[in-house]
Amino acid sequence: MNNHQSKTPQTRYQPNPVKLLLFFALSVAVIGGGLLGSTLPAQAAPPAQAPTTNPSVSAGQSKWAENCMPCHGANGHGDGPTAQSLPNQPPDFADPENARNYVPTELFDTIKNGRMDKMMPPWKNRLSDSEVWEAAAYVWRLGTTQQALEQGETVYTEQCAACHGADGTGSGPNAPDGINNFTDLTVMTGLSQANLMENYNASSQHAELSNLSEDDIWASLDYARTFTFAVPQRNGILTGQVINAGTGEPVGNIPVTLHAIQNNSEVDTITGQADADGNYVFEKLPTDHSIMYVVEGSYKDVPYFSQDTGMFVPDSNETSVNLEVFDTTTSDEAISITQLHYLLSFTPDTINVMQIYVVGNNGNATYVGQNGQTFNVALPQNATNINFQNNPNNSRFVETGDGYADTSPIMPGKDGLTIAALYDIPYNSDSATIEFPLVKSAASVDVLMTDQGATLSSDQVDFVENRTFQGTSFAVFNGANLPQGEMIRLNLAGLDSLDFSSNPIEDPGSSAAGVDTTTWFDQELAKWGIVAATVLAVVVAGVVYPMSRQRFTGPTDQPGQDPETRRKKLLLTLAKLDETFENGELDEDVYRRARAKYKAQLADLLEQN
Ligand code: HEC
Ligand code: HEC
Repeated sequence: MNNHQSKTPQTRYQPNPVKLLLFFALSVAVIGGGLLGSTLPAQAAPPAQAPTTNPSVSAGQSKWAENCMPCHGANGHGDGPTAQSLPNQPPDFADPENARNYVPTELFDTIKNGRMDKMMPPWKNRLSDSEVWEAAAYVWRLGTTQQALEQGETVYTEQCAACHGADGTGSGPNAPDGINNFTDLTVMTGLSQANLMENYNASSQHAELSNLSEDDIWASLDYARTFTFAVPQRNGILTGQVINAGTGEPVGNIPVTLHAIQNNSEVDTITGQADADGNYVFEKLPTDHSIMYVVEGSYKDVPYFSQDTGMFVPDSNETSVNLEVFDTTTSDEAISITQLHYLLSFTPDTINVMQIYVVGNNGNATYVGQNGQTFNVALPQNATNINFQNNPNNSRFVETGDGYADTSPIMPGKDGLTIAALYDIPYNSDSATIEFPLVKSAASVDVLMTDQGATLSSDQVDFVENRTFQGTSFAVFNGANLPQGEMIRLNLAGLDSLDFSSNPIEDPGSSAAGVDTTTWFDQELAKWGIVAATVLAVVVAGVVYPMSRQRFTGPTDQPGQDPETRRKKLLLTLAKLDETFENGELDEDVYRRARAKYKAQLADLLEQN
C-alpha cells in the first residue's frame, strides 16, 4: 500500500488544466486588451511623477499576473509563453546586472508609455499611474530574493539603523546632520540600486562599516528600498489540527507539509510536525491575500490534503486550517459513481472518446482496495489508443483482464476520485455499438456527441437537448440512477454519411506513447479540436481539481452569452491554437483551416458590434 503515497498527491494536486486556462485568459487579456486595445496615437510622454503613497509590491504582483506574465514570465526572466513569438526577448528582471541599474522612474515611464517599436505595449490606457507604480515596484521585487531581503534586514538593523533609523527616515540615535531619508518617494524613485551603492561608497560616514561584504551591502540596500516599495509582511501564523474525520479524534505526531499556492503555482513548501495532540503551527508566512495555503499529511500510508485552504484576510496575521484524515478500509460497499461523462466525436474511421468518472465514497474510511486496486475502469472491448490523464510514469493505472484499474485510494466524499480516459473506437460500417459495464451504480451518466449526422439510441440514456459550445453543436443525453452491473450500450447509426467538414475534433495524428502528462494533456486537447478545449478544460478543471474549484473562474459556455465574452473566448481559442501549433503539436494544414475558421467567426462577431 506504500505505493499510494507518491501518486495521489499528483492526482489531487497537479493543476495543469487550470494553469493552462489561466494562461489562456492571460493571453487574451494581453492580446485582446493590451495590443489590440491601444490604438491611440502616440503622444509626447509627460515626465514620470513620483508616487504619492508607497507603491505596494503585492498589488503589483496581481497586475503582473494579469498583464505582464505572458511575455515577461512568472519570475520575470523574459520567458513567458508569448515571449517566443516576440521579435526580441524581454530582458531578465531577475538578473542583478539588469535589476540594479533600473531607476524606478524609468521603469514607470517604460511601463506607462511602452516601447511599441520593440513590442512592449503601453499600459497608460489600462492602468492608472498608481497601478503603474505598483507594477514598477513588482519589477524591482523580481530583482531581489526573499533571502536577500531577510539578510538585508539583519544587516540594516545591526549596522545602519543607528544612524538611518529603524523606519529609514534618518532618525537613528547616532544620525549626523544632513542624513538622507529612505522614505522620501521623490528622491528614492530617482535612484537605482546601483546609484545607492555609489552614494554609499562615496559617503565618508560608512568608513567604519568596511568589514561588511559587498553582498551584505547590496542586501541592506535592497532592504532600504522597502521603505519606499512596500513588501508584504511575513508575520503570518497558520495553525491547525490533524483530525480523524471518521472518529472525530485528533491524530498526533505525524509530519505535515504546508504548500503555499499563488496564481495556481506552488511558491513555497514548508515542512512541520503535528504534536501529540495533532496541533501544528507554521510561522513567518507571507500574508499576501493572493496566497492560499494547503496542508498535507500522510496517515496510514494515504496522503491527504486539507479541504479548506488558509488565507490571510486584511488586518489579520492569523489563519487556521485543519487536516482531516481517515481510517482505511478494504471494503468497497460505500463506493459509487457520482458522475460519468462520455464525450464522442467522429473522424472518418474512428470514434474519439473521452470518458470521465467522478467516483464517490459515502463511508467514513478511505477505500484502499484489494491488492492496491480501487476502481476498475471497464472499457469497450474494441477501444484502442488508450490514454489516462494524470498517470505519472504510467504507474497509476494497471491493466486488468477487461480494462484498467486505478490504484489511487478513494477518499470519503462525492468526488473522492476522478478518472479521465481517452481512447478511439475504430468503425467500418454504417453502424457501431459501444458497450461497457457500470462497475458501480451511477447517480448520473451523460453523453455528449458532436453533431456530425450520427444518431444515437440507448436504453440507458435519453436525449435531453442540443447545446452549442463555441459554435459547435453537441447532442446531450442523460441517464440517472443506473444500477451496478448495468451494461451501457450506445447504438450509433448513420456513420456512412457523416459530415467531417464540420468536425471540430481534428486529429493531428495519434499521440506518441509515454509522453509526459502535461504535453500529453495538451496534445489531447489539441486533438479534441481546440473548440472543445475550453468546454473540456472547464469540465475537467471542475471535477478533477476540487481543490482549485473555489478559486477557479474559467469561462463557462452559456448560450446567449454576451459578445464580449464570446470575443474573448475566440481570442483565447486562437491563442491556444497558435501555441499548440508553435509547439509542433499540430499539423500545419489543420492549423491553417482551424485558424481561418476562428478568424472568420471573430470577424463576424466584430462586425455585429
Ligand atoms: C506583448 C509582450 C509584453 C507585455 C504584455 C509586457 N511587456 Fe514589458 N517588455 C516587452 C518587451 C519585448 C520588452 C523589451 C523592449 C526592448 O527591448 O526595449 C519589454 C520591456 C519592458 C521593460 C523595460 C526593461 C528594460 O530593460 O528597460 C519594463 C520595465 C517592462 N517591460 C515592464 C512590463 C510590465 C510591468 C508589463 C505589464 C504591465 C509588461 N512589461 C508587459 C514585452 C512585453
Ligand atoms: C554613522 C552613521 C551612518 C551609518 C552607521 C550608516 N550611514 Fe548611510 N549615510 C549616513 C549619512 C549621514 C548619509 C548622508 C550622506 C553623507 O552625509 O555622507 C548616508 C547616506 C547613505 C546612502 C546614500 C543615500 C542617498 O540618498 O543616496 C546610502 C544608500 C546609505 N547611507 C546606506 C547605508 C547603509 C546600507 C548602512 C548600513 C550598512 C548605512 N548607510 C550606515 C550615515 C550613516
